[in-house]
Amino acid sequence: MLHVKGGTLVTAEGSKRADILCGPDGKIAHVANTIETPTGCDVVDATGLLVMPGGIAPHTHMEMPFMGTIASDDFYTGTAAGLAGGTTSIIDFVIPDSRTSLVDAWKAWRQKAQKSAADYGFHVAITHWNDQIYHDMKTLVEQCGVNSFKHFMAYKNALMVEDEAFLHSMRRAAELGAICTVHAENGDAVAYLQQDLLSEGRTGPEAHPVSRPPAVEGEAAHRAITLAGLLGVPIYIVHVSTQEGVKAISEARLRGQEVYGEVLPQHLVFDESVYEGSDWLKVAQYVMSPPFRPKHHQAALWGGMMSGQLQTTATDHCCFCASQKEMGKTDFTRIPNGTPGIEDRMSVLWHYGVKTGKLTPQQFVALTSTNTAQIFNIYPQKGSLSIGADADIVLWDPDAERTISATTYHQNVDYNIYEGMTVTGVAKKTISKGHLVWNEGDLHAVRGAGQYIARQPKNRNVRKPF
Ligand code: URP
Ligand code: ZN
Ligand code: ZN
Ligand code: ZN
Repeated sequence: MLHVKGGTLVTAEGSKRADILCGPDGKIAHVANTIETPTGCDVVDATGLLVMPGGIAPHTHMEMPFMGTIASDDFYTGTAAGLAGGTTSIIDFVIPDSRTSLVDAWKAWRQKAQKSAADYGFHVAITHWNDQIYHDMKTLVEQCGVNSFKHFMAYKNALMVEDEAFLHSMRRAAELGAICTVHAENGDAVAYLQQDLLSEGRTGPEAHPVSRPPAVEGEAAHRAITLAGLLGVPIYIVHVSTQEGVKAISEARLRGQEVYGEVLPQHLVFDESVYEGSDWLKVAQYVMSPPFRPKHHQAALWGGMMSGQLQTTATDHCCFCASQKEMGKTDFTRIPNGTPGIEDRMSVLWHYGVKTGKLTPQQFVALTSTNTAQIFNIYPQKGSLSIGADADIVLWDPDAERTISATTYHQNVDYNIYEGMTVTGVAKKTISKGHLVWNEGDLHAVRGAGQYIARQPKNRNVRKPF
């Protein structure tokens, strides 16, 4: 048992002074203004700290096989790094290859994830369509705790899904009470522009953003929303990075369509200048998709979050070390796409969002935890500080400073995109299922302590746009 004493509770709804008692079952047993410490119960002093629901990272790729290699953070190292940054749950992606059924792929990912130090769930990717996929989606929803499916409109000849398959999948998901998520970039256009650039001899990583201009995302976001609207089903767009994407989402919401958008902190703080300079590796380290954009796109993302048009923050945590990035030394299209970030998401968002006055602490909780729990139907088990919820809690120092550095982080990768950045707002202590696993710089992540989050389907009302 753990008594969190003397802190200020901050949830998506409001703030209040209160204590929390975490029960032996890893759930919140009691919340009250003051609580007597039961005998034998450890006390965690939260004086001067904000007590918030642990972060939920709705988009990670631990040990993901991708572009000829495997992401370097595995389910243990990646979730442990998350705990050090205040994130207590992840939703990762099962990516079936063309020879493996969805259910077998899900089983393989369950196996890999057994080493997780924090709770985890899975979205399952649909890359093509056939009768077995139609049936497997039902098995996944009804027997495997999956309530969301992922679609890549990018990565032609690899993960890219055609529109017809995407439509089939969206209809089937809605019938089953699941929600579809989508990486919105026009994969045909990207492949076409990549070939243009290579034929002009532009083989370096600075060509990466040129091959994926904002319009490529704008078109795909608009198309995904249009297709979902035809069927009257909800759609969740991952890593929105452009003004065009934000506009497509907010216009659809104004038409009454159920559309959600996710933002990565790295898209909020880095612009296209990260692709300048002659240090090949330094530029390659910022090769992720969608790429980093000119400043006015960042303004649109902030506006989208502040106004509630964009609901969640993720990191798309997908780590590749120097030796892996170098697979694309002579051809930028072969640089494994992805950036690390699970450990720094909350600090970066607090520093640039709350500290600057753009977001309230309540919006911060909504954007890092509660909205994700609600959209993916694990609320109030996650994303809440109510009695009976999982005791996943972060004790946050809103004024502490931290300089992000490769010498102190826990991610299993040899660089940090935020290297040298000093941020205000630090996870002082993290509690996972009632256990103090991060205590002022001391990480007590336990390999295998994370449990699978079985997510239930929910009635997804068909709602056609006006
Ligand atoms: O560059 C990225 N984002 N890599 C991970 C795969 C994806 O597109 O989410
Ligand atoms: Zn993506
Ligand atoms: Zn991703
Ligand atoms: Zn210790």
